[in-house]
Amino acid sequence: MDPIIAANWKMNLNSSEATQLIESINQAMSNKPEIDLIICPSFTYLNQVASQLTAGSIAAQNMSEFESGAYTGEISASMIQSSGASHVLLGHSERRHKFNETNDMIKQKLLLCEKHNLIPILCVGETLEERHAGLLNMVINEQLSVINDFKSKYYIAYEPVWAIGTGETATPETAEEVHAHIRKIVGEKTPVLYGGSVNANNIRDLLLMANINGALIGGASLKATEFSEIIKISHALERV
Ligand code: PGA
Repeated sequence: MDPIIAANWKMNLNSSEATQLIESINQAMSNKPEIDLIICPSFTYLNQVASQLTAGSIAAQNMSEFESGAYTGEISASMIQSSGASHVLLGHSERRHKFNETNDMIKQKLLLCEKHNLIPILCVGETLEERHAGLLNMVINEQLSVINDFKSKYYIAYEPVWAIGTGETATPETAEEVHAHIRKIVGEKTPVLYGGSVNANNIRDLLLMANINGALIGGASLKATEFSEIIKISHALERV
């Protein structure tokens, strides 16, 4: 499979900044790099980015666990789907830790993904305390268990919480160990992305690992030049 490069913009960029960034991304994609690009803008720009992006897919960063109704401020699966998105991030650690999102809520969201033809990108990852306490595999297994009954296509993003936005990347070998564990559970066909301080300097070595199929990139995806460089490097990789 081509490397999957996903840009998680989080709660950043105004509308004209988003337009500018997509212009540069379109430029970087114009020589048809062999990568699978996914942009995750905020809800308010799903439509805008979907119509401006020339190559790639759109993902929402979150989604309501309710189908529709009296849930002021929530965004439903069908709204996301009809805004031009094909994917949705679920269980990002910022959602789990800052908004108390639970596995039960994620299970509800997965049902709605199936119903509305959205491809979930399920984020999993341990905190430093959990890693130090020897709980790594247990935490990952528990977070992955929500996908057991999910019959459609999905992606996994392994994002160690201690590496997100900290500048502290897991070494390719450390990440690969966890990816190999995840691979045993999800099988060969499910793409498994790595996320956590990925940038133009470390993308190559990460993508060369056997079980790392792509990257979910936060900070570096907001910088036009660096993100274009990441696209170029990912395209030029010698695939194993
Ligand atoms: P980061 O974020 O690249 O800024 O560490 C990754 C993510 O949270 O998806």
